[in-house]
Amino acid sequence: MKKTSTNVLPAEGGLGDEPLLAVDDLHVEFHTRAGTVRAVNGVSYTVGPGETLAVLGESGSGKSVTAQAIMGILDMPPAVIPKGQIRFRGTDLLKLSEEARTQVRGQRIAMIFQDALSALNPVFTVGWQISEMFRVHRGMSKSDAMKKAVELMDRVRIPAARQRVNDYPHQFSGGMRQRIMIAMSIALDPEVLIADEPTTALDVTVQAQIMELLAELQRESQMGLILITHDLGVVADVADKIAVMYAGRIVEQAPVYDIYKAPAHPYTKGLLDSIPRVDQKGQDLYAIKGLPPNLLDLPTGCSFHPRCPYRQDNCVTDVPPLYEISGTRGSACHYWREVLDGDQQ
Ligand SMILES: Nc1ncnc2c1ncn2[C@@H]1O[C@H](COP(=O)(O)OP(=O)(O)OP(=O)(O)O)[C@@H](O)[C@H]1O
Ligand SMILES: [Mg+2]
Repeated sequence: MKKTSTNVLPAEGGLGDEPLLAVDDLHVEFHTRAGTVRAVNGVSYTVGPGETLAVLGESGSGKSVTAQAIMGILDMPPAVIPKGQIRFRGTDLLKLSEEARTQVRGQRIAMIFQDALSALNPVFTVGWQISEMFRVHRGMSKSDAMKKAVELMDRVRIPAARQRVNDYPHQFSGGMRQRIMIAMSIALDPEVLIADEPTTALDVTVQAQIMELLAELQRESQMGLILITHDLGVVADVADKIAVMYAGRIVEQAPVYDIYKAPAHPYTKGLLDSIPRVDQKGQDLYAIKGLPPNLLDLPTGCSFHPRCPYRQDNCVTDVPPLYEISGTRGSACHYWREVLDGDQQ
């Protein structure tokens, strides 16, 4: 794509009809020796202020690559973005100069990464690392920045923040370290926060606490939250809507309630059937049969067809568009009606 870069930053204030963040027909490829890896193949999603979008899909479906494209942290090359837009408050981030992009990255759109221990520097105190955000980006003095760090540690509910601000990362538990990462990500009051599998390394109780914390912070600040996970069970309570990805495409998009009530794509159905449920104790868990697709050589037609119990001849030849089921819901399955009705052939 030919780039004409600009330094004009996205305006703050009212949004009009434009979503806060809109990914629009995004394509990302990696040009490797083995060939072209088609990691993202036309993803579109939006998130508004105070809204939580959960992005779901198995390993390799393109969730993180999409997030990295939003943040502007893909290595290009090998990554190439042949097509698409990422509009933040109406401005296409892909057209911004690197200088303008830096003003957005981490400050107006921030990201929490999965592995909190490796993301923190072991040789600096947590207070120093959090306060660095304020020293570097806001030009604060050391002592003012340290006060802000304590405030933030309180805000992410780290007990005895004032005493612990001079501790090192290894002195905190995994859950507490993730809280420190969250504190750093929200330090500069971002308008959009991307949380990429923020709880996978944590045990179930701590996972729930981190999710609750994110939800609380979001209510206070009205950030748009993109929550990436491969665990449908985690998102039920916190998300407003879900985008399900498969082989770099969105295969189903819907308000949370609709998806849980009745999925409209066979892949979503497979994901739901593979969640352990207390009311079905003793039953075998369903696993989606077959292997994830090879992104170097995607199946023809619908990428899910080799694994799909609803497959018909046209699924092998025709790529399904995202059919509109309602104003807020879409499914990229030619047979979404049958899936929705639960009539498995
Ligand atoms: N630098 C790269 N070079 C080649 N391929 C890459 C590169 N980065 C990512 N990919 C490929 O892009 C695909 C999508 O990766 P991505 O990290 O977005 O998956 P994901 O949905 O986040 O999976 P997970 O749940 O495991 O985090 C994968 O097949 C991955 O191997
Ligand atoms: Mg990932």
